[in-house]
Amino acid sequence: MADFSYTDAIDQAKTAALAYYDGSDEVMTDADYDALLNRIREYETANPDEVIEHGLFTAVAAGVSAGGTVTYDVPMLSLDKVTDLADIETFADRIESAGGTISVEPKLDGMAFNARYEAGTLVQVSTRGDGTTGEDLTDNVLKLDIAGLPKRISKGHGDTVNVRGELLMSFSDFEFSNTNRVASGRPAFANPRNATAGTVRKADLPYDVKVSFVTYDAVGAEPWELELDSFVLSSNLYSTTETDAVAKVLAFGQDRKAPEFPYPTDGIALKAVEKHVRDELGTTSRAPRWAVAYKYEAETGVSVIRDIVEGVGRTGNISYTAHYDPVLVDGSTISRATLHNPSKIAELGVGIGSVVEVYKANDIIPRVGRVIENPEGVTDYTPSDVSPSGAPLDKSAAIWRSLDPADSIGALIAYAGSRDALDIDGFSTAIADALVSGERPLVNDLGDLFTLQFQQLANLSLGTTEKGTKRFLGAKTAEKILANIEAAKQQPLNRVITALGIRKSGRTFGRRLANHFHTMDALLAATEDDFFTANGGPEGIAEERARLFYEGFQRNRPAIEKMRAAGVNLGEEPAAVEGDAGARPLEGMKVVVSGAMTGSLAGLSRNEVQELIETLGGKASGSVSKATSLLVSSEVGTSKYTKASDLGVRIVTPEEFAEMIGR
Ligand code: IVH
Repeated sequence: MADFSYTDAIDQAKTAALAYYDGSDEVMTDADYDALLNRIREYETANPDEVIEHGLFTAVAAGVSAGGTVTYDVPMLSLDKVTDLADIETFADRIESAGGTISVEPKLDGMAFNARYEAGTLVQVSTRGDGTTGEDLTDNVLKLDIAGLPKRISKGHGDTVNVRGELLMSFSDFEFSNTNRVASGRPAFANPRNATAGTVRKADLPYDVKVSFVTYDAVGAEPWELELDSFVLSSNLYSTTETDAVAKVLAFGQDRKAPEFPYPTDGIALKAVEKHVRDELGTTSRAPRWAVAYKYEAETGVSVIRDIVEGVGRTGNISYTAHYDPVLVDGSTISRATLHNPSKIAELGVGIGSVVEVYKANDIIPRVGRVIENPEGVTDYTPSDVSPSGAPLDKSAAIWRSLDPADSIGALIAYAGSRDALDIDGFSTAIADALVSGERPLVNDLGDLFTLQFQQLANLSLGTTEKGTKRFLGAKTAEKILANIEAAKQQPLNRVITALGIRKSGRTFGRRLANHFHTMDALLAATEDDFFTANGGPEGIAEERARLFYEGFQRNRPAIEKMRAAGVNLGEEPAAVEGDAGARPLEGMKVVVSGAMTGSLAGLSRNEVQELIETLGGKASGSVSKATSLLVSSEVGTSKYTKASDLGVRIVTPEEFAEMIGR
């Protein structure tokens, strides 16, 4: 461990924790983060005199809003794991010989929480933590729309009752929350568990989410006495009175994947039902002897790594994608997977030619699990020390980054042309890559896009076909793209800002910055302090963003000047309501749009209507909830429509909406 620097490790972990809670850039995988924390812990045990206060183990690092720690007199136990079906039979025998029956429950894949009720009122919600000490997240959690966690319970008056269970997103909660998150300009969460973890640690979420709580245990009362709707056994679906536990486990292995099963699960919990049996068998310091968990094996495939392709994202992060022979896993063919970062690649020990096991994480995302064999002839793979443009890399975090703008320019230009930004129809990643590559690239920054000539585009080389003939963009496409670039010059300022692709900005910040600063010149003249929310700047901008935004606009000065010369709109946001600029008829309203626009709004894309809503003071949201103020829908009977009418949310047609906003 000679190369281990304690202080660097703390810095790295803090950066990763911040990025994690922010939910945007992934700096480190969970496994790497845990490994780093373990090294810090080991170091502190070995060198108690050097310990620095960093808060990493109490999870309040990174400015996470938390109300401190909570200690559990009755610890929140874990479950011992059994790995094969024979172990289940052994467990079943043990319970039967003690005169008990077995319940078979889904093992839910979320986060364990304790909900404390005093005299029937919910007073505190906290994480399991290490079982004896958890984190108080009451303030955050109670702000959320949670099914299954009543504010009051009718039983347990006068007493303290600690209800224990899993806080998670059902598949429909996940879809709802992720849609809103993406609509607000943030990257999607990969799976319901990440989404839950990322959600409960945020003090103020700028988009709507839904979470659920499912109870499986209680202290101070028997869980079934509490008559909670969400008690895991209330359905009795997986409870068994005979020792057909194995059959039940196998059957649930299939059922859990059925669309009807609402919650993500990672296994099954088997428990003794009777209290006297539980008492007789007792518990160890970490797990009950009257229960076990069985984890379902993920379906895997075997393939051979053919290539590892390095890429650069629009913010400079280096990615490593394994290309392997296509293989069918759990109903779909997969052939690529991210290898995350260099330390992960070293840990896996993959090379070109390695025979590997591949699987789908959370049943969805392709991953390389392990190397089965490195046959003779495998070529070792060492991640490049330099970026594709030859620049040295910033290796201070687990994910390496190129600081050379030349590396990210392809991804950046592709993003600038995308629907979220300048919306240049016909523009593609392949075209963006071709424009930025070669000895003398046609495009070196966003400004260059607006001075492209017809001949240059028509002759743009798009590589060679499989047969070896050269491909060019051609006159027809060139003409179309040029016309669309010309039209993009009239895009509103918020889209031009978005197109700059400044780190930690996206569609939402494009709009917020445009609404606040009004002109590109004002943005260029702004100091770092002017961006701060605390100084009256737009919402959601603290230190890091203020610095990135300030640097981002300054760095883009040359590109902006080229755009100005080419006639790109850098000015005032077009007034939303003619003759009444600045009117905010939708102030404070949460508006959902569904179906195509008609009447005077016909032809506006969803994104454009959302922009309009936000310029008029409203908040655009992707799906309907209790908090929705208005649904604008051109269709009746859709799921959004039904939902809105069930919840009593006001529904208007696009025509009525146009009238409301004076269009
Ligand atoms: S029972 C004494 N039941 O699994 C009670 N746990 O490995 C101990 N979990 O921390 C827990 N579904 O986060 C229990 N039906 C279920 C569960 C469940 C998910 C989680 C829970 C716990 C972990 C134990």
